[in-house]
Amino acid sequence: MMGIDLTGRRALVTGSSSGLGRAMAEAFAAAGARVAVHYRSTRDAADQKAAQDLATSLGRPDAPAHAYPADISNAAEVESLFAAIDRDFGGLDILVNNAGIDGAHATCAESDPAAWETVIRVDLLGPYYCARQALRRMIPKKRGVILNITSVHEFIPWEGYSAYASAKAGLSMFTKTLAQEVADQGIRVLAIAPGAIETPINRSVWNDPAALKDLDQKIAMGRLGQPREIASVAAFLASDLASYITGTTLAVDGGMLIYPDFRHGG
Ligand code: BGC
Repeated sequence: MMGIDLTGRRALVTGSSSGLGRAMAEAFAAAGARVAVHYRSTRDAADQKAAQDLATSLGRPDAPAHAYPADISNAAEVESLFAAIDRDFGGLDILVNNAGIDGAHATCAESDPAAWETVIRVDLLGPYYCARQALRRMIPKKRGVILNITSVHEFIPWEGYSAYASAKAGLSMFTKTLAQEVADQGIRVLAIAPGAIETPINRSVWNDPAALKDLDQKIAMGRLGQPREIASVAAFLASDLASYITGTTLAVDGGMLIYPDFRHGG
């Protein structure tokens, strides 16, 4: 049986102090990678501690991990983040653009422009700033993988979350365009579209029995996903087992995109 082997790879997972990012950081380290844990800001002491504890637990004496704060929606902070990674890891082989927010529910007509812009800045400009820095390091080495975490909402419209859905659809096209730019330079660019995974981003839904029942009905498998079910796919896509896959989105959604409502009627 072929195993997933990321030995010697240096991976940055943005937003890895919790949720999907944390599970991916753990999976990458388990497959042998050295991981740069990223979290938002030192102003959130609990989040900072979670990131630092994770880095400590993932590091090995011969291959320490590190945790870095950065506002990914700020180009200068992203530049500093990558400079710190250069210093500590001497380069980068894998970037996972995972950090994201879905923003407060508001229809377009009711929405606050500043809040809408914040979602676009974090979910679309953030991955752009990080990918730009990563590619500048990967292109000279002719090796690398960029994995963008989109959502089923790169495909499915979502009332009240137009900024999020727009950012994720944009991130999908960004994925394909980058893949086209660097396919002949040894670099693969891919996306995973998670469905409803049990993480802090949707805690208010899975903590509410009525909301959870409604959500489960939108999933063909009838249950939320677990972070490790995304992390194993991310580790595979980042590895050489996936060496011929680029420029595409893999949905990992328990069948959200196969219109479970059409099991009846129509
Ligand atoms: C969102 C979750 C939501 C899921 C399915 C994800 O992109 O972050 O909050 O449950 O899509 O709608």
